[in-house]
Amino acid sequence: MGAIEAATALDPVSLFRAWLAEAEAEEPNDPNAVALATATPDGVPSVRMVLLKGLDERGFAFYTNAESRKGAELAANPRAAMCFHWKSLRRQVRVEGTVTELPPAEANAYFHSRSRGSQLGAAVSRQSRVLESREVLEEMVKRYATQVEGEIPRPDQWKGYVLRPERIEFWLNGADRLHDRFLFVRDRNVWAKSRLFP
Ligand SMILES: Cc1cc2nc3c(=O)[nH]c(=O)nc-3n(C[C@H](O)[C@H](O)[C@H](O)COP(=O)(O)O)c2cc1C
Repeated sequence: MGAIEAATALDPVSLFRAWLAEAEAEEPNDPNAVALATATPDGVPSVRMVLLKGLDERGFAFYTNAESRKGAELAANPRAAMCFHWKSLRRQVRVEGTVTELPPAEANAYFHSRSRGSQLGAAVSRQSRVLESREVLEEMVKRYATQVEGEIPRPDQWKGYVLRPERIEFWLNGADRLHDRFLFVRDRNVWAKSRLFP
């Protein structure tokens, strides 16, 4: 069971993959949804959901608009935190680290893997700015769709980011509030593990 795996796991990334695979089997919607917290350089936090779109030796990848609130905060302060919560599994994973941009070629590849409709939407959206009305947005999409016949070019501000984890904490629901918590802290490429009080 999960408790035993988490208790004996030595590599948090492998453990995360195992939990995500279980979530993919159990969660009705968006098992890869994650709350992403960013902050201004003077420490004013903000949080919103994004979709995890990759995980490799570099870290946890997501895509967004660099001119959005989160994009502006990350440009000024690359420290960020993520929190996954899989309700049907009663599990949580928290990740903390520093965010960098993915190479443009990767953003291009992912952008063009999406439907023309979502490429159009992403291309016209001025994410997080004030929008006068829904009609204005729909009109912008319609107009752009007629201007671009072939492939929609990825807008420069639509970027991929990767959070390189320094801390990863796993939380499993236990009876009588005796939850299990396992914290992994990275020192260079070695993960140290400890159990935390619930
Ligand atoms: C389940 C879910 C997944 C989302 N995934 C993304 C995503 O991958 N990228 C993104 O830019 N916004 C995503 N959003 C929208 C963001 O939560 C947010 O509204 C938007 O990015 C603007 O955030 P900001 O103003 O803090 O930058 C998602 C929302 C939900 C509810």
